[in-house]
Amino acid sequence: MFIAFEGGEGAGKSTQVRRLAAHLRDLGRDVLETHEPGDTRIGPAVRALLLDPANAGLSARAEALLYAADRAEHVDAVVRPALQRGADVLTDRYVDSSLAYQGAGRPLDPQAVAAVNAWAVDGLLPDLTVVLDVDPDLGLRRASVTPDRLESEPLEFHRRVRTGFLQLAARDPARYLVVDAALPADAVQAAVLAEVDRRLAADPPDRAVGAWR
Ligand code: TYD
Repeated sequence: MFIAFEGGEGAGKSTQVRRLAAHLRDLGRDVLETHEPGDTRIGPAVRALLLDPANAGLSARAEALLYAADRAEHVDAVVRPALQRGADVLTDRYVDSSLAYQGAGRPLDPQAVAAVNAWAVDGLLPDLTVVLDVDPDLGLRRASVTPDRLESEPLEFHRRVRTGFLQLAARDPARYLVVDAALPADAVQAAVLAEVDRRLAADPPDRAVGAWR
């Protein structure tokens, strides 16, 4: 399975990726945990450019393209090879982060952001996308002490991002699980595990290569 975890700042994605990975390994499965931006050889440099508050005012199109470039490398060098060897891939952020942060948060044409990203991932969509939904007011309070460039954006930006994630999930409910991330981590974990176990018990997922919407 290819599973993406998405959500705003301080939603608890990394904890849930770790817990789901442990669960799948207990079932004897080969699991790769990864994240965006940055989990490739060139990734740390791209990530540093994107998150450095000194780069405030970066063009929104440049920002979208840098995230997409990081993602293209991530798909080619990390995600697809792992899926091909039969591993489950759990990624902390993927395409929907760009659709929400750049497509909904920034004043960019969402269709253009979607088109660039469809090309970047060569049509590879997750079997399941888990959206950890949290009010940005709470999420930002939980997030890092020293805000990075994106965390430093105004609350309104983060509200548009949240709405963006929820709209993506509403448009394609079969591919999404939305969980209230204000709940304790154990309750969030229970909801995620139940959905993943349900899917594992069902037919093997259809990998949507080229089935971009
Ligand atoms: P990171 O420290 O990985 O944040 P988090 O722990 O919230 O995942 O920083 C990634 C930041 O980049 C985060 O603010 C979300 C943003 N982002 C985008 O704007 N677009 C994207 O496509 C991705 C992958 C991340």
